[in-house]
Amino acid sequence: MINHTYDDFPYLCLIRPDIQPRHLATLATLFNLQPPLLTTARILELGCGNGINLLAIAQSWPQAHCLGIDYSARQIAAGQQIIKAVGLNNIVLKQLDIVDVDDSWGQFDYIIIHGVYSWVSSSVQKKLLSICQHHLVSNGIAYISYNTYPGWYLNQIMRDMIQYYHFHQFEDNTIRPLETKQLLQAVIEHNQPHQDAYTLLLQEQLTRLQKPDGDNYLYHDLLEVENHPLYFYQFIEQAQQYGLEYVTDVKFRDALSTGQPLKFNLGGDWVTHEQYMDFFPIANCG
Ligand SMILES: C[S@@+](CC[C@H](N)C(=O)[O-])C[C@H]1O[C@@H](n2cnc3c(N)ncnc32)[C@H](O)[C@@H]1O
Repeated sequence: MINHTYDDFPYLCLIRPDIQPRHLATLATLFNLQPPLLTTARILELGCGNGINLLAIAQSWPQAHCLGIDYSARQIAAGQQIIKAVGLNNIVLKQLDIVDVDDSWGQFDYIIIHGVYSWVSSSVQKKLLSICQHHLVSNGIAYISYNTYPGWYLNQIMRDMIQYYHFHQFEDNTIRPLETKQLLQAVIEHNQPHQDAYTLLLQEQLTRLQKPDGDNYLYHDLLEVENHPLYFYQFIEQAQQYGLEYVTDVKFRDALSTGQPLKFNLGGDWVTHEQYMDFFPIANCG
């Protein structure tokens, strides 16, 4: 497998509106919970990249205390420079491995983990859940994202092909975006007359790689050594082992909200309903 780090290819980090604590608190309130006050909240982001998402939170809540950690020295240094330039004093970014978080860190009101859970080993996944278990206040909210099945099976085809190609083709392990696209283009052209599902899928993947952020997808999704998608129900089983209780998807998915009620009785409890929602991707777009 290709070996590289986020220091070589920094991740394209974004401010993500639907994981801002204000949004998480609103959702929790809709579910009859009493989320911690935002004004003075302690907020932890694990695997924060350059911390730009946390920086937006710190700017919105000047009395809140924001702490972000990431083991990529380059990304953390970039974030620290931005913080200095903006002049914020309620946010700290540390270059640190998630496994080194210990009891001395105390309690947090909100813990944010975006784009990390599927990209780390099983032992680090356990540590992430354990941090949420031991470092959240009793009414605290954790946000955790992961690569989700069944949708990720579509990317998996591409990931397997590209990993094989790079592993066998280039002795120096260099990642070659141009050659990757050329390979894909050749396969598509060869299959073109058939216009089958496989060809359409590869065409979609090629389009994705050709976008301005295409290399980010190549480096960090297709070629990342650790990438472990899972089904929603599997994630919930893992989270429950750490005493964590599921509240909702941040997109607050509801079949009715699309204006198109599903012609199928999903039955079951909230978790079952949410699992079925992953099988109805169009219903999720609402
Ligand atoms: C896909 S990026 C996501 C970055 C950011 N959370 C975002 O969504 O924009 C994953 C991040 O997790 C960090 N990371 C992975 N394993 C880590 C570990 N064991 N300790 C600290 N950071 C880690 C990487 O350095 C990288 O910045």
